[in-house]
Amino acid sequence: MSAAAAQNTPPPGARADWTIDQDWQAYGAAEHAVWTTLYERQSSLLPGRACDAFLSGLDALDLHAGGIPSFAKINSELGRLTGWSVVAVPGLVPDEVFFEHLANRRFPAGRFIRDGARLDYLEEPDVFHDVFGHVPMLSDPVFGDYMQAYGRGGLRASRLRHLHHLARLYWYTVEFGLMETASGLRIYGAGIVSSRAESIFALDDASPNRLAFDLERVMRTPYRIDDFQQAYFVIPSLDALLAATLQDFAPIYRRLETAADLSIDAILPRDRVFTRGSQAYAKARSAAVQ
Ligand code: PHE
Ligand code: FE
Repeated sequence: MSAAAAQNTPPPGARADWTIDQDWQAYGAAEHAVWTTLYERQSSLLPGRACDAFLSGLDALDLHAGGIPSFAKINSELGRLTGWSVVAVPGLVPDEVFFEHLANRRFPAGRFIRDGARLDYLEEPDVFHDVFGHVPMLSDPVFGDYMQAYGRGGLRASRLRHLHHLARLYWYTVEFGLMETASGLRIYGAGIVSSRAESIFALDDASPNRLAFDLERVMRTPYRIDDFQQAYFVIPSLDALLAATLQDFAPIYRRLETAADLSIDAILPRDRVFTRGSQAYAKARSAAVQ
């Protein structure tokens, strides 16, 4: 999980790099049952919706046996596949700490699980979002390289004071990315695959725009953290995503200093449009809060 933490020293009990032990033994039966419910819901929904890399990662890592998986068990398989590992953290960690972990192929994950009475409500990413959502993709070598490069790029973007631009890339790829495949659009973003409602909305709803991924365009597009996205960006493949991000971002950041943000639901003349959304969902929601 990323985003700024409230403080920049680790809380009591955490190591200098903010990691803690998962303490798997401490989970109770009710917590394991929440994982199992969520796991069963998503794993029956996602075939035909999630991309192959996600589904094969999910298979390879055996994330269902016995409730909340042990990070140690995940790591022995994940390490063999791509050299990535999952490390437990107490909650949101400072951006630099997060990037430093990614740059070293460690994915920081929350260890707590959401309340069983509110399965769809999340104030902060929990172990289901972080592990079910993010970890299967880390078993893909190309995506694993992308995430590591993102960590290095994050350290650089904070030095260059362009984290707000780079964060949009993370949001619209790692969290909410879609991919074009021969059988149609597929999900690879962790924020979508870990949410039942958004796994349907992102692919099937008439409301959001679905536009071809364009790096600089994405960096100019704000995003919603509190509701379904109004735009999704579609990559042609993981290889294409990695290739697009291997270029030097410094000249892009310089151009963005004088380029205004786009509106969240904009469709530009040069966008390749998969779906021109009605934005009906977003309009109904904003009418409701007024
Ligand atoms: N190429 C980027 C840079 O020069 C680093 C990066 C790679 C960022 C991959 C995100 C993803 O800053
Ligand atoms: Fe996430």
